Amino acid sequence: MKSLVVVGNGSLGLWWCFHLTQLQKKSLCKAFLVTRTEESAQSINEKGIIVEDKTSAAYVFDKNNRTMLNTSNTVCFHCPSFSNLKQLSEKLQGYADILLLCVKQYHLKSALENCTELLSSKGVAVSFCNGIGNLETVASFVGANRAAAAITYEAVERINSRTIIHWSSGRTIFADTLTYSPELNANLQFLHDILKQQNLPIELLNSVDARKEMWKKLAVNCVINPLATIIRVRNGLLSDRIPESLFEGICWEIVRTAERSGIILDHSDLMVQISETIKNSSRNICSTLQDIQNGRPTEIEALNGAVAHLARKYGLSVPYCETLFHLVKAMEARQDTTA
Ligand SMILES: NC(=O)c1ccc[n+]([C@@H]2O[C@H](COP(=O)([O-])OP(=O)(O)OC[C@H]3O[C@@H](n4cnc5c(N)ncnc54)[C@H](OP(=O)(O)O)[C@@H]3O)[C@@H](O)[C@H]2O)c1
Repeated sequence: MKSLVVVGNGSLGLWWCFHLTQLQKKSLCKAFLVTRTEESAQSINEKGIIVEDKTSAAYVFDKNNRTMLNTSNTVCFHCPSFSNLKQLSEKLQGYADILLLCVKQYHLKSALENCTELLSSKGVAVSFCNGIGNLETVASFVGANRAAAAITYEAVERINSRTIIHWSSGRTIFADTLTYSPELNANLQFLHDILKQQNLPIELLNSVDARKEMWKKLAVNCVINPLATIIRVRNGLLSDRIPESLFEGICWEIVRTAERSGIILDHSDLMVQISETIKNSSRNICSTLQDIQNGRPTEIEALNGAVAHLARKYGLSVPYCETLFHLVKAMEARQDTTA
C-alpha cells in the first residue's frame, strides 16, 4: 500500500488530509501529516482536525464508504501528525511514495529541507503552490523526474492550526510538467485514481497541457488576488467593484509574457476562467488578503511579481502587474510600521 505524506497543516494540507484519511479507512493508502511546529502536531493529535464544508452536495453520501459529513456539514477526524522528523527519521526515512507539498511558496525550500529524506528512492514530490517557479525549486531537491505540479481550483480557508472551511470545489490537475518518468507518471496516476474515489474533480494532464493550465491559474491569481486584497473584499464582489477593462489589461500582459515563454494562451478563455472562478469562489477570501489580515507575507512575488520579472527579462512592459505587485508589497510592509 502506498504511503502519502501531507506537508503543511494549512488550508490545503488539512483538506487533502481529510480525503486521504477517508481513503486510508478503505485501505487504499497510508497517510500522515507533517506540521511546522510541535504545538500544531500535538493539538491535531489530541483534538483532531475539523473540516467545515460550505459547498452543497460535495460528496456522495454512501453509508459504506464513511465519507459523509454530518448534518451541520462539519466533520472531526484524526490523522497522525509529526513535526520533529529528525527524532523520527530512522523510522520514517524512505517511507513516503508521495509527498504532497501544501506550504506557501516562500516556505517551500525549508519544507523540502525538512522532508525530502522521507521520500523513498522512487518517491515523488507534488507541489500545490500557486504561481510559477515552484516546480524548479522542488526539482532542485528531488530531481526533475520526481517533481510534479498540482494545479487546484479548490477554495479552502484556514481558521486555526486544525480547522478549515471548504468554500468551493474546483478542478485539481496533476502533471509531470518538467520531464516524463514512468515512476512519476505511475504515482500521479495512483493519486488521480484514489482521489477520484472521493468524488473529486481530479485530472491528469500531459506536460504541455499542464503548463498551459499552470499559466491559466496564474492569470486567475494575478487578477483576483491583488485586486481583492487592495480593495479588501471577498472574491464575489470583484466583478461589481472593478471594471472589466482592468481584468482584460492584466490578462493581455499575461498572454504576451506566456507567449514569450512558449505558452500560447487564449485571452477570451482566460476572461471566462476568471469570471467562473469569481462566481464559484464568491464567498472566499483570497489567500493574499487572508495573509495581509493575519500579518503574514503574501505570495505576490510568485504571482504578479513573477510575471513582471519574466516580462523585464523579455523586454516587455507589464505596467498592471508591476503596479499590483508593488501595491501588495507596500501593504505587506505597512504591517511592520505603526503609522
Ligand atoms: N487554500 C487554497 O484554497 C489554495 C488553493 C489553490 C492553491 N493554493 C496554494 O497552495 C499552497 C498552500 O496554501 P494554503 O492555503 O494551504 O496555505 P496556508 O493555509 O498558509 O498553510 C501553509 C501551511 O504550511 C505550513 N508550513 C510552513 N513551513 C512548513 C514546513 N517546513 N513543514 C511543514 N509545514 C510547514 C504552515 O505552518 P504554520 O501554520 O505553522 O505556519 C501552514 O500550516 C499555496 O501556494 C497556495 O497559493 C491554496
